[in-house]
Amino acid sequence: MVSPIIPLSLLVLLLSVSMANSASFQESFVQCLHLTQSEFASSIYTPSNPSFTSLLNSSAQNLRLLVPSAPKPELIFTPSDDSHVQAAVICSKKLGIHFIVRSGGHDYEGVSYVSEIESPFIIVDLVKLRGINVDIKSNTAWVQAGATNGELYYRIYEKSSVHGFPAGLCTSLGIGGHITGGAYGAMMRKFGLGVDNVLDAKIVDANGRILDREAMGEDLFWAIRGGGGGSFGILLWWKVKLVPVPPTVTVFTVTKSLEQGATKILQRWQEVAPYIDENLFIRVIIQPFRAGNNTQRTIITSYNALFLGGASTLLQVMKTSFPELGLTRKDCLETSWIKSVLYIAGFPSNTPPQVLLKGKPTFKNFFKAKSDFVREPIPEIGLQGLWQRLLIEDAPLMIWNPYGGRMSQVSESDTPFPHRNGTLYKIQYLSAWQEGDKNVAKHIDWIRKLYSYMGPYVSTSPREAYVNYRDLDLGVNTKNSTNYIQASSWGYRYFKNNFERLVKVKTKVDPENVFRHEQSIPPLPI
Ligand SMILES: Cc1cc2nc3c(=O)[nH]c(=O)nc-3n(C[C@H](O)[C@H](O)[C@H](O)COP(=O)(O)OP(=O)(O)OC[C@H]3O[C@@H](n4cnc5c(N)ncnc54)[C@H](O)[C@@H]3O)c2cc1C
Ligand SMILES: *[C@@H]1O[C@H](CO)[C@@H](O)[C@H](O)[C@H]1NC(C)=O
Ligand SMILES: *[C@@H]1O[C@H](CO)[C@@H](O)[C@H](O)[C@H]1NC(C)=O
Ligand SMILES: *[C@@H]1O[C@H](CO)[C@@H](O)[C@H](O)[C@H]1NC(C)=O
Ligand SMILES: *[C@@H]1O[C@H](CO)[C@@H](O)[C@H](O)[C@H]1NC(C)=O
Repeated sequence: MVSPIIPLSLLVLLLSVSMANSASFQESFVQCLHLTQSEFASSIYTPSNPSFTSLLNSSAQNLRLLVPSAPKPELIFTPSDDSHVQAAVICSKKLGIHFIVRSGGHDYEGVSYVSEIESPFIIVDLVKLRGINVDIKSNTAWVQAGATNGELYYRIYEKSSVHGFPAGLCTSLGIGGHITGGAYGAMMRKFGLGVDNVLDAKIVDANGRILDREAMGEDLFWAIRGGGGGSFGILLWWKVKLVPVPPTVTVFTVTKSLEQGATKILQRWQEVAPYIDENLFIRVIIQPFRAGNNTQRTIITSYNALFLGGASTLLQVMKTSFPELGLTRKDCLETSWIKSVLYIAGFPSNTPPQVLLKGKPTFKNFFKAKSDFVREPIPEIGLQGLWQRLLIEDAPLMIWNPYGGRMSQVSESDTPFPHRNGTLYKIQYLSAWQEGDKNVAKHIDWIRKLYSYMGPYVSTSPREAYVNYRDLDLGVNTKNSTNYIQASSWGYRYFKNNFERLVKVKTKVDPENVFRHEQSIPPLPI
């Protein structure tokens, strides 16, 4: 099909007719980009474009931030080339237009597609930049920001069954936003985080230049490996180091209800899981269960695990270290690493690995989440109080992720991600609800109260939190210059003392705060 050639001036005219007062804003941005006509047609979306809302919705993971009352962008730009990303930064800066950046759209507070603090704003959506070049010979891969971690896993699997990469469990995460915040997954106890396995990067800086590791220098290269997305530049590419995986791995899921002794087993898990063989990652998913008639209620704990080895070795490890769980050979499924990825991500069995190329999340809902790090086992009385609180909410979920192993060997200041030695496990709290629920305030209030209840049992001074589980309850930036002081409220929780170095780097590389959102690292006042 031959697309009709519409002169740019006519398009601009059409835009200005339909856009009324935002016209000049969009018009000047688009003119500045110097796109060809076909690039213009396929990469500029204004609210009058019939595809605008479906594009806005496409990768947005938290439906809470898509409700009609949530602020909407004036324009979405989907660059198809690294040079377009440079142009977007240069033009936005020149014209004073606020932009936010989206890769995979999984931000817990939607700061990659909604700005609550600045209006107007536009989105630079990297959905089209998803190149992946795996080089088995050198054990490395270059991955473009808009690709998902699932696509990366698939492209590695295509070339080798004994290589992998240690990043997220969920397989629709954007490499751009995911690795910038740490990136943990089922191999973290053996190989550390995604950021611990990064060799190089290409970013667009605040002046629109493309910098690799050598050009950006070690301070900035340090900051982008865990300092959180949207603060230091736009990540274009990561160069990652592949890790060896055995041809056979083993997965299992064993569930225990309160009646089956869940409380005692979970107490034991807290003492064992952070110290057990580093080839073994056993997370616990905790949910209330109600029988249909709602009279019989209990808590179900699911022990969901990956072992980098065969079932017989796993059974020996469990017999020695964690016999309380009662793992049997029948519970174990021996499989390949790529299939273990699908298993842990929750795809139905027999789903072909090609599903990873769809880059689509398995589900979407409305949610509010929080995180904690635990340094001392929670005593039984603490767990009992937790069960009571979980049973009163409609769709709560907790996930406990064990640390230890490689995570304890990396020092707190090696990368901005500080939750290292001494951390037993991380807790994620989640409250989710469906479209049309009238009790949104109740769900949010519930999770805040639960968080407050947990205070005595988790890390303190600071009460640590995972930046990739962004939580705006911890504090937000405002448009004015008091940001640095306000940011301390969340900055030390996400980064501990690394926060101060992050602020120094930010002040040096982006003193005008071109890259900013509700929880971006603030520069010191000039
Ligand atoms: C269902 C679900 C499961 C998850 N599972 C895991 C998990 O197993 N392990 C884990 O570690 N985390 C997990 N996360 C958290 C996830 O790592 C973060 O939400 C991460 O920020 C997502 O990256 P993204 O590109 O998809 O998100 P986006 O929403 O696109 O971006 C997140 C942040 O990074 C910024 N950003 C995006 N792209 C770029 C770029 N190219 N350059 C600079 N900044 C950028 C955005 O502006 C925003 O501030 C999960 C999240 C969800 C919703
Ligand atoms: C976008 O998502 C919102 C929130 O779920 C929904 O109300 C709306 O219908 C969706 N629009 C499209 C075009 O998908
Ligand atoms: C409720 O359901 C449970 C499990 O299905 C059952 O054991 C119990 O007897 C039921 N209670 C009532 C009052 O029907
Ligand atoms: C971790 O901390 C413990 C106790 O605080 C210490 O004994 C151990 O040596 C530390 N491990 C590493 C690798 O630093
Ligand atoms: C900065 O903004 C916040 C919130 O909008 C406001 O409460 C505060 O007074 C402002 N401070 C200054 C110095 O303008």
